[in-house]
Order: sequence, then structure tokens, then C-alpha cells
Amino acid sequence: MQDKVIYLDNAATSFPKPDAVHEFMGNFYRRCGVNPGRTGCDMAIEAEEMVLATRTKLSALFNASLWANGDKKDPNRLVFTQNATAGLNMILNGTLGSGDHVVTTHLEHNSVIRPINHLVKAGVNATFVKPGSDGLVDPEEIRSAIRGNTKLVVVNHASNVTGVVQDIAAIGVVCKQSGAQFVVDAAQTAGVVPIDMWESDVDFLVFTGHKGLMGPTGIGGICVSDTAEVTTTVWGGTGVKSAEPYHLQEYPFRLEAGTLNVLGIAGLSAGVDWINAVGINSIHRQEMELIELLLQGLTEIDGVTVYSPCQSGNRVAICSICVSGYDPTEVGMFLDVDHNVITRTGLQCAPLVHDLMGTSPRGTVRFSVGPFNTANDIEVALSGVEAVARERRPGKHN
Ligand SMILES: Cc1ncc(COP(=O)(O)O)c(C=O)c1O
Repeated sequence: MQDKVIYLDNAATSFPKPDAVHEFMGNFYRRCGVNPGRTGCDMAIEAEEMVLATRTKLSALFNASLWANGDKKDPNRLVFTQNATAGLNMILNGTLGSGDHVVTTHLEHNSVIRPINHLVKAGVNATFVKPGSDGLVDPEEIRSAIRGNTKLVVVNHASNVTGVVQDIAAIGVVCKQSGAQFVVDAAQTAGVVPIDMWESDVDFLVFTGHKGLMGPTGIGGICVSDTAEVTTTVWGGTGVKSAEPYHLQEYPFRLEAGTLNVLGIAGLSAGVDWINAVGINSIHRQEMELIELLLQGLTEIDGVTVYSPCQSGNRVAICSICVSGYDPTEVGMFLDVDHNVITRTGLQCAPLVHDLMGTSPRGTVRFSVGPFNTANDIEVALSGVEAVARERRPGKHN
């Protein structure tokens, strides 16, 4: 077995991070790892400037609506959260109440499915739209699902199981025409494919920092359009206007309570700088070349079923497989133990998409490519899958 770990689980979290991220985080925290906005000392001012600069560069990366809106540019509508899950919970809980309706899809992650299921128990109505066999959600299906009381449409930008990227611009038009607020879960696309919030009429763009944005774990956020409406569900200190008895309504404080994850924001800042320096299109191009190589090789291995529709075109570098005769968990374990190849097995927190693909309850083996993978990594992964498939025990699980 070769020594180097072949990490193909970048959809769970990107690894490794660019050296620049480690360096910036260490240096920043040593120099001014204090609480921004709480005191007027130089260190706190530098920390606050770094936080604002990070809001600004992320707003620009996503072409946030106020960002695109000429002289009204306001990076403060980009708020930081712990991760995408926290952001999605804030929006769902801050917009939906008993009697309201939400439209979402069978492609969603549990960070959308579970909060919605809890809200349904509290009197919210939900409709889950199915994608076609190409993995794409038809915007007209969204339109048909929208009712008079539909407050939100929540769509996963790229599936963390199949890698298919949805046409958010087309869905955005439907939402705008019907008056429902449009939430895009960009956990798998932020930093990986260009996102234009303004062009796509997105009201809330939710991102996580530790995947394609190359930051550390524990940091994410929401970019809120200039017209979106959400109420606060977490209240507390903001460092300003302490005499106010209620939580502040202005951004970013409206959705940020308590001390920010300054170290995480520093890492995210360096991650975005790294992406901008390398170029998002060139990162995506390289990842797509590798996933195409992987897909091509996987389809040629006897006993392997690939569950990734839409093989060319709009997708990110994620694909899922099953190997005949094996439970996906066994395949993942053999790839890890015998070949040093790291994948993610099971339902990947997206049970409904597995129901549709017929891969429930055992799920699949998921490969996800990151910016530091090479063609050699793909070759090692393919020879690992080939070795496992050769040994397969027909009919064991199928
Ligand atoms: C599509 C999708 N949405 C949301 C999430 C949740 O992200 P986080 O765990 O960073 O909150 C993930 C994580 O895998 C995901 O793939």
C-alpha cells in the first residue's frame, strides 16, 4: 500500500487547507486575537477591520444584492454563523410560523430536512419537490408547488451526493414572480462555482466556511439580500448600544449575537484570498477534469454502479457509487485500510435523495475532489475500487 493518504472526502470538509490559511490564522491570532467591537484598542480595531474586510470580500465573491447595487454597497448584510446548518436554522425559524408553507426538494441535506420536519410539527406546511432523472429540479415544478401562503423556497445549489448543480437563476425568477423568498444552500458550491446572488434573485445565500471556501471548521454565514425579511431567533450582546433592552435589528447585529469566531473568520478571509488568487474558474476546471477521469474509470469497472446523473455540464466534483456484492461501508473501509483512500459512505446526511436513487438504507460510497488532488490520486482510487470489485461476492447485498 502506498504511504500517502489520498483524501477524496472534500465534500465533508476540504483537506488540506492552503498553507496561507494556517499562516494567516496563526499570525493574526498571535497579533490581535481579541474581541472586535468590544474595546477601542488598536488590536480590537485591527480585528474589526479584518472582520469587515472578510464580509466585503465574501459579498463581492457572491455578488450580494447590495453589493451589486452600486452606491448602496453594504457588506454588513453578510452575517457570520457557526456553519451552514446554523444559518439555515436561523432563516427557517426566523421566517416560518404556523400556517405558513415552505417548498423544498428531495435533494436537501438534513440541515434543511430536519428543521423543516420540526417546523411541520409546529404547524408549518411543507412540499418536497422531486428532481428529474437528470438530478435537476424543474423550476416549473417549484412554481406548481408554490401556494398563496408559501413564504420560502429552499433549494440545495449542489447535491452533496450526486454533485448536480441546480439552475438557481431559473428558480429565482419563479420565486420572484410568486413573492416567495428564495433560500439557496450553497454549502457545496461556495468557493467552488461562481455564484451571482443578484442575477439569480437569491434572498438568502447560506454558506459554510470549511468546504470549498478553504477556511477552518466552525465558521459559515448568510448573505441577506437588501429586500429579504427575517426575524431574530437568537438574542444577546452585540458590543454596541448595550442600554437597548431588545436585540438590535440592524445588520449585522440582527443575526449575530455574542462574540464572533474571529479566528475562524481570519481563516475564511485567507481562504477567500487564496481562491481569488488561484481563480475560482481554474479551481473548478481542474476539479472537473479529475472527476471526469474518475467517472470515466468507474464506469469501466465491472460491478460498479455510478449514481451521478448529468455527467457533463453543470456539476461539482462529487460522485457516488455502489459496488455489487458489497455494503458501501465495506467498500469505504477496504479503500481506506488497503489503499489509503478516504471516501464517505452511507446516506451522507441526505436520506431523501437516496430514497429516490434506490440506494437507501445503505447509501453509497462518495468521492469528492478538492483543489489539492492530482491525477495520481484518481488512479490510486480507481485501482482500489477495481481491486475491491474484483473480489466481490455476488448477491451479498447488491
Ligand atoms: C448540501 C449541504 N448543505 C448543508 C450542509 C451542512 O454544512 P455544515 O455541516 O457546515 O453546517 C452540508 C454539509 O455537508 C451540505 O453538504
